[in-house]
Amino acid sequence: MTRRIAIFASGSGSNAEKIAEHLTNSTDVEITLILSNSPKAGVIDRARRLHIPVLLFDRTTFYESSRVIRLLQEQQIDLIVLAGFMWLMPSELVQAFPNRIINIHPALLPKFGGKGMYGHFVHEAVVAAGETESGITIHYVNERYDEGQVIFQARCPVTPTDSPEDVARNVQKLEHEHYPRVIADLVAAL
Ligand code: GRF
Repeated sequence: MTRRIAIFASGSGSNAEKIAEHLTNSTDVEITLILSNSPKAGVIDRARRLHIPVLLFDRTTFYESSRVIRLLQEQQIDLIVLAGFMWLMPSELVQAFPNRIINIHPALLPKFGGKGMYGHFVHEAVVAAGETESGITIHYVNERYDEGQVIFQARCPVTPTDSPEDVARNVQKLEHEHYPRVIADLVAAL
């Protein structure tokens, strides 16, 4: 039976593309849909190139209607993957997909997580705090930012001369290396 993944993304979409590449030859997993709140996001062009259907939605649709949930249910989505999606998941959606929503965070949670901790803010905070390592956290999603159960972490060193951009580059390398594989493993275990 084919397992079906939906990716929520509103940024450049580099993780979404790596996941799609990784799964491209798989006969039992497909990326059914990419969902985004941002029509100008890089991920939209990538999705077009990858021939993955896109659903764009706005804040009112997401938080005040059940359209997105209904669509995910109709499409029989097995796993929801957040890859650069900034909005909190509504509790109705979390409850409709228990332990079926995962996120990647560009730091070693519980450090450097929570509201406002995204993108360059994370790496700036890591450097400002004088951390000697950073990394990625892949975790289940609940109704609070970055608090769900941790599934996987990978680490990279941070040296005293590293800039936030250096840390961002090293962390992104880890994301691309591990997120597709962790997703494939999770789906295989469903
Ligand atoms: C990644 O750094 C991810 O950890 C975070 O958002 C970023 C998305 O990057 N949640 P991209 O759009 O996949 O390039």
